[in-house]
Amino acid sequence: MSDATTPRPPASAEDVERAWNDTKLAQVLYHDWEAQTYDDKWSISFDERCVSYARDRFAAAAGTGGWPYERALEIGAGTGFFSLNLRQAGVLDDVTVTDISPGMVEAARRNARGLGFEIAGEVADAERLPFDDETFDVVVGHAVIHHLPDVEQAFREMLRVLRPGGRVVICGEPTKYGDKIARALSRATWWTATRATRLPGLRGSWARPQEELDESSRAAALESVVDLHTFDPGALTALVTRAGFTHVRSVTEELTAAWFGWPVRTFEHAVNPDRLGWGWAMFAYKSWLRLSAADRVLAKVVPGELFYNVSVTAVRPS
Ligand SMILES: C[S@@+](CC[C@H](N)C(=O)[O-])C[C@H]1O[C@@H](n2cnc3c(N)ncnc32)[C@H](O)[C@@H]1O
Repeated sequence: MSDATTPRPPASAEDVERAWNDTKLAQVLYHDWEAQTYDDKWSISFDERCVSYARDRFAAAAGTGGWPYERALEIGAGTGFFSLNLRQAGVLDDVTVTDISPGMVEAARRNARGLGFEIAGEVADAERLPFDDETFDVVVGHAVIHHLPDVEQAFREMLRVLRPGGRVVICGEPTKYGDKIARALSRATWWTATRATRLPGLRGSWARPQEELDESSRAAALESVVDLHTFDPGALTALVTRAGFTHVRSVTEELTAAWFGWPVRTFEHAVNPDRLGWGWAMFAYKSWLRLSAADRVLAKVVPGELFYNVSVTAVRPS
């Protein structure tokens, strides 16, 4: 295991070449590189907006009983968005973050210190967790299992490190159909926005410099190497059951909110960010909240597979 406080040096050209054929190396290179700018790119914060988002995703999947879970592990924690905000919400107590990217583990520990507390951090592959059996009361993850080559092996590892009766809660994974729709809308937005901002009259003030657009395109190409899966909610439930868990339950969320949210995020990356101020950020956030509320009503009639996000929770048998 590497020392979590020592980020990898920048990737060499040979590393990048090898990464095309080695998905785990690709994860490390891509996410180490992303770690510096990740919070800005995904509008991650540790204030009420993201505290309530993390708490609501956890509660939608696993309910509100048993809070706070005392010993919590997060897999693929990134910069700590999920577990640090869940800790602030009173859902988790003692947090250990893990990630395959040293840069991400360091960023998560730095974010925790910025919030005034310390967390444990380990560089670790979710398919081989470096912890004894029955160490944790809860294992959480957000937007991570779609990156894992062997998802079932990761669930077996989560089962092993949970105490009997302990719970796993994995949120924010892309569904098969939801992801297709979101990507199509994002591609159309990118195409339209990058062409519109080249028009005379808009070019000077709205266009992003070409180098920045090229960097976004390269990132999108690498993303296709690190994004390995989308999930059918029923198949995910069956997989978690096969791994040995009981009381397995999946929920899906975000239909129109995703149709709005993904194009908005793409638009923000395609145009000059100086043009989009606080007013735009508030418009985007409030619209997303309203659409999410509408989606909770639509969930009563629209098939769950069409929603964008799937979460799954389960319990280690006693
Ligand atoms: C999309 S990011 C999500 C980060 C964070 N959970 C969040 O929601 O902001 C996925 C994270 O999974 C990590 N990851 C990818 N493959 C992994 C693996 N095999 N084991 C552990 N972490 C992994 C990446 O390094 C990255 O930080």
